[in-house]
Amino acid sequence: MMEWLKEIVEGSTRLLVPEVSLTSSVPPKQPAFYNPAARVSRDISIVAYNAFISRMMERSFADALAGIGARALRVAVEVKSMDEVYINDVNPIAIEIAKKASSLNKVENICRFSIDTAYRFLVEHSARGLRFGIVDIDPFGTPAPYVDCALRAIVDGGMLSMTATDTPILHGIYPRIALRRYHGRSMRCEYANEIGLRLLLGMLSMVASRLEMGIEPLFVQSTRHYMRVYARINVGSSRADEMPSRLGYAYHCNSCANRFIACMDECREVCDVCDSARLTKAGPLWIDRMMDEGFVDWMNRIIDDATTTTYALNLDRQTVNIVRIAREESMLGEEALYYTVDEVTSMLKVRPPSTASILDALRSNGFKASRTCLSFRGFRTDANIKEICSIIRALTIDG
Ligand SMILES: C[S@@+](CC[C@H](N)C(=O)[O-])C[C@H]1O[C@@H](n2cnc3c(N)ncnc32)[C@H](O)[C@@H]1O
Ligand SMILES: [Zn+2]
Repeated sequence: MMEWLKEIVEGSTRLLVPEVSLTSSVPPKQPAFYNPAARVSRDISIVAYNAFISRMMERSFADALAGIGARALRVAVEVKSMDEVYINDVNPIAIEIAKKASSLNKVENICRFSIDTAYRFLVEHSARGLRFGIVDIDPFGTPAPYVDCALRAIVDGGMLSMTATDTPILHGIYPRIALRRYHGRSMRCEYANEIGLRLLLGMLSMVASRLEMGIEPLFVQSTRHYMRVYARINVGSSRADEMPSRLGYAYHCNSCANRFIACMDECREVCDVCDSARLTKAGPLWIDRMMDEGFVDWMNRIIDDATTTTYALNLDRQTVNIVRIAREESMLGEEALYYTVDEVTSMLKVRPPSTASILDALRSNGFKASRTCLSFRGFRTDANIKEICSIIRALTIDG
C-alpha cells in the first residue's frame, strides 16, 4: 500500500513524501503535494514559531492547508512545548500520509487531523476558546481568499503566517490582478519583492482593521517563487484604528532611480532628488516596518541555542544566513525600499564593487547601511540615490 511513498528526513522530522516529488521539476499536486524546495521556508517557520510560542499561553498551531504535513509535523517535532498541532487539508490522501508520519515521529498524541476545506476548518475554530495560537496559510497561489477566516481563528496576540506563490502578480507583471487581490497597485522594479511583501501586508492590515484587529509584522521572507509574512494579530478597535496610518505609497523616480515612501494623504508629484515628474507609484501598501527587531533578535537566539548544545535544529545554511542578515537589517531600523548593487552600477556604467565595500563606504561617509535578506546583492541605507552614486563612483575610481 502506498509504495510510491518514500521516507525522508527534513530538519529532524521523518516525513513520508511521494517519491516523484523528489525528482520532478514541478512537484505534482496529485495524489498529494510535497515541495522539497520549500525546505528553507519551513526551516524559517520552525525558528519563528519557536521564538513566538515561548511567550504564548495558547500553544496551538494550525496548518489549514497542510498537504502531507511537512510544516505541521515539523512543528509538532521541532517546536518546543507545543500542546496541539492541527493538520487539515481538503485532500484525504494527504491527511492519511500525514497521520502515518505522525506515528513514525511519535507525535500522534498532540496531532489533530481533519479533512475539510480551509474555510470551514477555520470558521469552526473562530469561537472564543477554540482559536489557535498560530495559524499558517500555505495555498497554491494567493492567500487572499483565506485571510478573513484565518484572522477569526487566531487568539488575541497570536500569530498569522502566510505564503503567497502568485509572485508574478505581486512583482508587478499583472497589475490589474494585484489591484483586485491586494487592493493596491504593484510595480515592476529591481526591488519588486519588497513592494510585493508590502502589498501583502497592506491587504492583511486592511482585512484586519475591517474585523476590528491590528497587525504587527514580525518577519518577512521572499524567494523568486514565494513570499512569506509572519505577523502578530491584536484584537480591538484601538489596534484597528492604528492601521490606516501605516498604509501609504511607494514612489520610484524613472529619471534618477530615487525611491521613497509617503503616507496616504501626502500626494507627491515630483522627485525630491532630481525634480522629475516621471514617478511611478505603487500602493496603497504597508509603509511601516516589516520586521520586529526584538522578534528577529529572538529568532537569532533560537539559532544560537540550536547550534550550541541545548537542542539541535538541523537547519539549512541558507536559513541561518537569512536570519543573521535580518538581524543586521532590523537593527538598522530597516530603511524602506532597498537598492541593488547591479542596478546602481549599471546606471553608472562602472564595474560592480563588492556589497561589503559599498556598505563600508556608506558607513564611513556617515550613513546608515546594511545588507537585506530580501536580495543577495541588495542593501538598505538612509543615503539618497545621488549620495549612493557619488560614493560608488568614488569607490570604483579609487579601486
Ligand atoms: C502548497 S500545499 C501545502 C504545503 C504544506 N503546507 C507544506 O508546507 O508542505 C497546498 C495544499 O492546499 C490544499 N488545498 C487546496 N485547496 C484547499 C482548500 N480549499 N482547503 C483546504 N486545503 C486545500 C492542497 O490539497 C495542498 O495540499
Ligand atoms: Zn529623481
